[in-house]
Amino acid sequence: MTITAETSIGSVAAEHPLATRVFARHGIDFCCGGGLPLSEACAARGVEPDLVIAEIDREIATSASDEIRWEDEPLADLIEHIVRHFHGPLREELPRLAGMAKKVYAVHGQKDPKRFGEIVETLKELRTELEAHMMKEEQVLFPMILAGRGRMAMGPVSVMEEEHAHAGDILRRLRQLTDQYQPPEDACNTWRALWAGLEDLEHQLHLHIHLENNILSRRALRS
Ligand SMILES: [Fe+2]
Ligand SMILES: [Fe+2]
Repeated sequence: MTITAETSIGSVAAEHPLATRVFARHGIDFCCGGGLPLSEACAARGVEPDLVIAEIDREIATSASDEIRWEDEPLADLIEHIVRHFHGPLREELPRLAGMAKKVYAVHGQKDPKRFGEIVETLKELRTELEAHMMKEEQVLFPMILAGRGRMAMGPVSVMEEEHAHAGDILRRLRQLTDQYQPPEDACNTWRALWAGLEDLEHQLHLHIHLENNILSRRALRS
């Protein structure tokens, strides 16, 4: 596949998994905004599409091996990968980060009560939504796809995509509330660990949503 400025972000990410590293580096939304052509997504981040394409080519040329191309793997394996590598860790990470956020709020909240209070509340909202969301995927959507009824899953897929878009909004809010995850000079270790954990949560969720939106649901609907 030749990548041009008109290729959609989602299909570049699906065809070339290593491209997601380049997109993440530039803050280009490759999961919920996957339908946009490269040119528009780059313009939104103020980067030149040609430079991004060259960087993707370099990433592919210099990596020892490309990551798994889920576009070509059986859907059952992709579902197992999503549940094992994303749902399981997320169920552990959300309560862990929520606990850390409360701790940082209790110790340092007086420095900026509004901001810390909002971080605690936002994480609570994200946890509640994602736990319900993953349960619906595992109990409704994934079994439909595994039973070979993916083509009839239009309804569950559109609910899932709406929920992904909302999770994306929450992640953007968290990024703003944490100054793009830059801790201040005097931040303690728990505070630094919280910011690092939240940044990793964002990265993992982008990869997770990309696999579900741009690969799993598209392939299931046309199966
Ligand atoms: Fe999921
Ligand atoms: Fe999902």
